[in-house]
Amino acid sequence: MPNLFYFNQKLIVRIDIITVLPDLLQSTFESSILKRAIDNNLVEVHFHNLREYASNKYRQTDDYQFGGGSGMVMMIEPIDKCISALKSERDYDEVIYMTPDGDPFNQQTANELSLKENLILLCGHYKGVDQRVRDHLITREISIGDFVLTGGELAAAVVCDAVIRLIPGVLGDETSALTDSFQDNLLAPPIYTRPATYKGWKVPEILLSGNAQKIENWREEQALKHTKARRPDLLKKLED
Ligand code: ADE
Repeated sequence: MPNLFYFNQKLIVRIDIITVLPDLLQSTFESSILKRAIDNNLVEVHFHNLREYASNKYRQTDDYQFGGGSGMVMMIEPIDKCISALKSERDYDEVIYMTPDGDPFNQQTANELSLKENLILLCGHYKGVDQRVRDHLITREISIGDFVLTGGELAAAVVCDAVIRLIPGVLGDETSALTDSFQDNLLAPPIYTRPATYKGWKVPEILLSGNAQKIENWREEQALKHTKARRPDLLKKLED
């Protein structure tokens, strides 16, 4: 469940994003619901340019692989310095590395992260980070799908969007996050709005009946039918 328990309580979620490309991420938080969430002090999002933690004059954050092999590797030192600087300011619930070989991201993880107070998201680039970062500095690894992006920034934006919209007060209608697809492992039922008939295409009669119980039952049936047809794997999870 999303963190509706904290409704009316001032719980500010803070997300620190470590990246070599802060500009790529910034615009995600500058419009619509995420912007409003930040403006209303429901969430804080901070960007940290990894290059500022690089020790040499070229602001180098990546280097060749030991043992040979194509592709650069992100160095441990700037990452460690950045994470240490953040940790000296506050405690973090999770230090998350965005990587295609991480744990698959899903609604349950979004719900879980929306309950945390302080999160660090580390965006990988090139071949990824030095393994020692993963072994010693990271608490969790997340993938947004079985495909490889040019960097972790867009993946971090996806995770932030899914998490922030669950923070109480962020969505106008407090219950709407509960009826999303994937809450309860079911896809959402079909939805309609005016006009009731368009080009002869009609809205299901039951939705116009005014009978709340019947409408609720219909929605449950539809959600089940839709899930059976498109994502039977989700129903297996319900049975387990
Ligand atoms: N970085 C590159 N590809 C990614 C993915 N699929 N998920 C998370 N981070 C990534």
